[in-house]
Amino acid sequence: MLTQKIGFIGTGRMGKALIEGILKKKLVPSQNLWVCDKIEGKLSFFTKYGIKTSLRIQPVVKNTEVIFIAVKPQDILQVLEDLKSGIRASQLIVSIAAGITTSYIIKKLGKKIPVIRIMPNIALLVEEGMAGISAGKGVNLEQKRLVRKILGAVGEVIDVPESQQDAVTGLSGSGPAYIYTVIQGLIQGGVKAGLSQEAASKLAIQTALGAAKLAKESKSSLEELREAVASPGGTTIEGLKVLEKKGLEDCLAEAVVRASQRARELRKEAN
Ligand SMILES: NC(=O)c1ccc[n+]([C@@H]2O[C@H](COP(=O)([O-])OP(=O)(O)OC[C@H]3O[C@@H](n4cnc5c(N)ncnc54)[C@H](OP(=O)(O)O)[C@@H]3O)[C@@H](O)[C@H]2O)c1
Repeated sequence: MLTQKIGFIGTGRMGKALIEGILKKKLVPSQNLWVCDKIEGKLSFFTKYGIKTSLRIQPVVKNTEVIFIAVKPQDILQVLEDLKSGIRASQLIVSIAAGITTSYIIKKLGKKIPVIRIMPNIALLVEEGMAGISAGKGVNLEQKRLVRKILGAVGEVIDVPESQQDAVTGLSGSGPAYIYTVIQGLIQGGVKAGLSQEAASKLAIQTALGAAKLAKESKSSLEELREAVASPGGTTIEGLKVLEKKGLEDCLAEAVVRASQRARELRKEAN
């Protein structure tokens, strides 16, 4: 178990998912966790675990060594304003906010505080998350290890230069939504081809899960795996021809690029 006192500012989808992961894995004793959100109703979920809660940021800053900022990029400036007076150089900030750089955070805090930028995804709820991690200036190895340990307990982690975090955001941060869209298309097709909605959902979801697992565990390339399903003259090859004609691969690639650009726009808007 980790001994550090850890705070969370923002307990929406990502903040709550991370805390749930920490609790599920018993990574940090609940009495060492502090959370802050703007609405009382959101905090009651945490009090039942013995987590300390507050509507104000100050108790979190005062009592913790590591502070996760899990608010929307549009709200981060206000959070940094509120952190500014109480934050200490010995504390570590971990930001989840899309597009927001470590140097922006340091500049707005007006102090040399170690900051780590992370981009996890929502699949950490089922311990299959994917996160990119970038340490800003002044972060020590121990601090980085701590954040890796927390994210590693709920999924996979890769180190990326901070300049690539927008791309991580567009791919794995937003990616679950693209995969759900692909699954939805498969379900629609299954129903059109004669299946019940229930059967089509089960078939499509398990197919996506199985295909991803095989891609992860197999030594074969994606092309080889695809070829192994699409025998000449068979059924799959006809389906693949439709995907090629309609440009599914290009569409997905474009979605990733557009989402990465949006991360950059969010950064500009935060300024
Ligand atoms: N959702 C994802 O799949 C995902 C994936 C990767 C990264 N992210 C990043 O994670 C961050 C959070 O996203 P999210 O989807 O979890 O957003 P969210 O559900 O809106 O959660 C943010 C929470 O922070 C609260 N908040 C805002 N300002 C605050 C303040 N000054 N003090 C305390 N709490 C405050 C919000 O309250 P109100 O709602 O009342 O404003 C809300 O409960 C974003 O920066 C996003 O880029 C999200």
